[in-house]
Amino acid sequence: RVYKRQMRCRSDIDRLDDAFIAIVKSLIPAEEEKAKQQQLLTLLEKLIIKEWPKARLYLYGSCANSFGVSKSDVDLCLVMEEADVNKAEVLLKLADILQSDNLQNVQALTRARVPIVKLMDPSTGISCDICINNVLAVVNTRLLRDYARIDVRLRQLAFIVKHWAKSRGVNETYQGTLSSYAYVLMCIHFLQQRRPAILPCLQGMEATYSVTVDNIGCAYFDQVEKLSDFRSHNKETVAQLVWGFFNYWAYCHDYTDSVISVRTGSIISKREKDWTRRIGNDRHLICIEDPFEISHDLGRVVDKHSIRVLREEFERAAEIMQYDPNPCVKLFEPY
Ligand code: CTP
Ligand code: MG
Repeated sequence: RVYKRQMRCRSDIDRLDDAFIAIVKSLIPAEEEKAKQQQLLTLLEKLIIKEWPKARLYLYGSCANSFGVSKSDVDLCLVMEEADVNKAEVLLKLADILQSDNLQNVQALTRARVPIVKLMDPSTGISCDICINNVLAVVNTRLLRDYARIDVRLRQLAFIVKHWAKSRGVNETYQGTLSSYAYVLMCIHFLQQRRPAILPCLQGMEATYSVTVDNIGCAYFDQVEKLSDFRSHNKETVAQLVWGFFNYWAYCHDYTDSVISVRTGSIISKREKDWTRRIGNDRHLICIEDPFEISHDLGRVVDKHSIRVLREEFERAAEIMQYDPNPCVKLFEPY
C-alpha cells in the first residue's frame, strides 16, 4: 500500500492543530481533581499505616504518569515490606478496613490477574483500585512521566490517541485490543523514531536513576530537565504528528517481523525475541516490548480477530487524517 504518502496540504494541517490542542485542553484534569485525588491518597495512607506501619502507598498509572484524562480512576499500589506476602490475605484484610471506614463499593478481587481491592470514596466520588507490591508498575509510571517532561507533544499526542482508542472501542484488553499503557509506549516509540527525533531513548543513556525490582534492573537517564536543546530540532505540530502516528501504524509498521522497543529506541526483530510463533495464548501479532519486563509483549492480548479490528481502525484514522474535511469530529465518532 501507500508507503510514503504526502501529508495533506499544509494550511489544512495548521488549521487542524488548534482544534487538536483544544481537544487536549478539554481532556486535562482540573487542579481541583488532582487535589481530591491527593486527599483520598492521604486518607487511605492513614488507614493503612494503622494496620501495616511499614507499608507504603504509591500512585501509579494515569494519575501519576501525566497521561490521565479527567475523571480517570486512581491506581494505587500498596508496597509491603516482604516481597512474597499472601496478597489475597492482605487484600481481604484491607477490604475489611476500608469498609469499616465508610468507603463505598469495596470489593476484593483476589483471583484477578492483578489482584486488587476496588473502592469508591463517597466524599470525592473518586473510584480507585489498590494492588499489592506491583513495584514495576510504579517504576514504569515514572519512566512515562519523565518522557512526558521532555516534550509537550508526547502528552498531547497520547491524549489524542487515548481519546481516539476509547471512542473507537479499541482500548479494551479483555476484548483483545490494547491497554492505555501500550498506546503511550506506541506514542513514545513513534516520537523516538521521528527524524529528527522528538524523544531520545532514556534507557540508552547514562543511567542517573537505577533500581532493581523483582530481579529486573531498571535504569535510565532521569535528569530530563537537562535535555532542553533536544526538542528544538523537530518543529512538527501535533496535527502533523497525529497524521504521522496513524500513517505509521496503518501503512509503515512491519507487523510480520517488527517489535517496537522503547528500551532500545528502535525496532527489533521478532526472531531476536523469539516472538515468531504462538506460545500458549501469546500470539505476538503486534509486538510492543515492555521497557523493563522485556519478556513481556504488551500486544500479547491481541488475537486473530482483534488484530484486524485494530489495523482497520488505524487505517480508518489515517484516511480521515488524510482526506476528511473535519477530522477532529470524525476521528472520535463512537463506533
Ligand atoms: N501496567 C503495566 N503493564 C501492563 C498494563 C499496565 O505495568 N500490561 C501498569 C502501568 O504502570 C500503567 C498502569 O498499569 O501505567 C495502568 O495501566 P492502564 O490502565 O493501561 O493505563 P492508565 O495510564 O491508567 O490509563 P487510563 O487512563 O486508561 O486508566
Ligand atoms: Mg488507569
